[in-house]
Order: sequence, then structure tokens, then C-alpha cells
Amino acid sequence: MSYENVLLDEIEAGIWVLTVNRPHALNALNSATIADIGAALQAVAANAAARVLIVTGAGEKAFVAGADIKEMSAFSGVQGQDFSRRTMAVFRSLETLSIPTIAMVNGYALGGGNELAMSCDWIIAGDNAVFGQPEVGLGVTPGFGGTQRLTRLVGRARALELILTARNVKAAEALTLGLANHVYPAAELREQVLKQARMIASRGPLAVKLGKEAVQRGQDLDLDNACQFEAQVFGLCFSTADQKEGMAAFIGKRPAAFRGE
Ligand code: CAA
Repeated sequence: MSYENVLLDEIEAGIWVLTVNRPHALNALNSATIADIGAALQAVAANAAARVLIVTGAGEKAFVAGADIKEMSAFSGVQGQDFSRRTMAVFRSLETLSIPTIAMVNGYALGGGNELAMSCDWIIAGDNAVFGQPEVGLGVTPGFGGTQRLTRLVGRARALELILTARNVKAAEALTLGLANHVYPAAELREQVLKQARMIASRGPLAVKLGKEAVQRGQDLDLDNACQFEAQVFGLCFSTADQKEGMAAFIGKRPAAFRGE
């Protein structure tokens, strides 16, 4: 299937790349693009052979420069709330995708762009990346989950500082804040992200999914219930062929050939 504002490609077996593709507008997110991202995510979710999703932006300059200011400029309050809710649902479907997701941030990740990146499992940035929540400079608040996800990621005081000053953060600072997991020279970014994606794709697919679910669900539970959930997930792994294969391969001193079963 093809989309107007998004590219969706399987670049290697099980490794998918979703590219926001409006480079003339620095990949700004208008309603049509949000709908495309939602549809592309549904396609990835329905593909049992998908192992990892990389999210990025087209062109040299931007990951995503935010929600589309030109579209939003004439919004009523109701339209603003509707745009926010539609996008929140799409970003939540990204966050809860069963396979790992990596934001490959190749330039500006501002406003809705930073919010898209933070909806991935982690962020890997090029040294040309610029992050920020510039919304208060436009007379609005973040509206695609930024007040919540940034706070969870970097802590309340740092999130408040970034949101209320609207100052931009370069890649090196994003790394120290814990917003980005890694920063690489821009020319090496794609290969470094691919290296990590291949690593994930080589692991036990069911264990990878269950590991993600345990971390995500556990965050919303108290420690006792979260550990209880982990014990259930761990037990479930022993009913899979992947566990038999993974442990037999270790004992037999050979690489594992997982089937995701
Ligand atoms: N929405 C719509 N169009 C945008 C855009 C955006 N968020 N960001 C960039 N563009 C467009 C520009 O209007 C311009 O189009 P034209 O050539 O038709 O004028 C084109 O992309 C190139 O942009 P610039 O000429 O501005 O490029 P630059 O290199 O001089 O500056 C930039 C780059 C600093 C990223 C600057 O474009 C910028 O500040 N963009 C807006 C960033 C922003 O405020 N994002 C937050 C949006 S609000 C939001 O996201 C709310 C939310 O949480 C839901």
C-alpha cells in the first residue's frame, strides 16, 4: 500500500522503516500525515514477520518540525482538541506496538516531532539533531503528549524547564538529559540504527515482545504487581519453541534460529 505523506519499507527481513515524507514542510504533521502514520502502523501491526520499526523523517534537515502550524493557525478550540485526540490515539498505537520501535532523529524534532520521537521506545539521534517543545512561543501548549511523555522521560523539573522556556536542545544535551539513548555523527546514523535493529531482529521474537510489554505495563503498576506480571511473562516464555531453541543453541554452542513460535 502507498501513502501520500509517509513511506513504509521493509529494508531487510523483519526491519521496517516508517519515514514521514513532507520534506518541503520539514515533515510537519498535518491531519493527512497523522492519518497516514496511523494506517502505516496498522499495516506493521498486522505483519507477523515484522521484528522492529524505525521511525524517521525524509530529507537532510528534519525528523519532524512539529505539528503543521499552517493547518492549525485557523483552528477553533474544538478542532484543536480533535486534532490532539486523533494524534494521541495514533501515537499511543505507536507506543504500544508489540515490536520495538526506534526513533532515528536526523535533524529537527520539534513540538509534535519530539512527541512522535518520544512515542517510540527510544531515540537515536544524529549529531545534527535539535529537540524542543517550542509551543509556548506559538501561544499554545504541547498537544501530542509532550507534557506527559517528556516528564516521564527526563523528570518533572527538566520537562518544565524545556516546555516553559521553549528553548531548543542540541543532540549532546539531549543525550545528557536522557532524551536520546545515543548520538552518532549524522553520516553514520542510519548504519548505527540498523546495527541495533539487526541485533533486535536476531533475538527471540516472542521474548522481545514480552519484554517490551513487561516494561510498559509494569510502569503503570506498583512494584509487587509489576514483578508478578514479569513472573507470568517469564513463565509464558517456557511454553514457546523459541525458548527451547534459544537454550538448546546456547548449550550446543551454535547460533539460535528463532521462528517466533
Ligand atoms: N508547520 C508548518 N510548516 C512548517 C513547519 C511547521 N511546524 N516547520 C517548518 N515548516 C515549513 C516552513 O513554513 C517553510 O515552508 P515555506 O518554504 O513554504 O515557507 C519550510 O517548512 C522550511 O522551513 P523554514 O524556512 O522555516 O526553515 P528554517 O531552516 O529557516 O527553520 C525551523 C527551520 C527552525 C525548524 C523552523 O522551520 C521552525 O521553527 N519551524 C516550526 C517549529 C515549531 O514551532 N514546531 C512546533 C509546532 S506546534 C506543535 O507541534 C504543537 C503540538 O505539540 C501539537
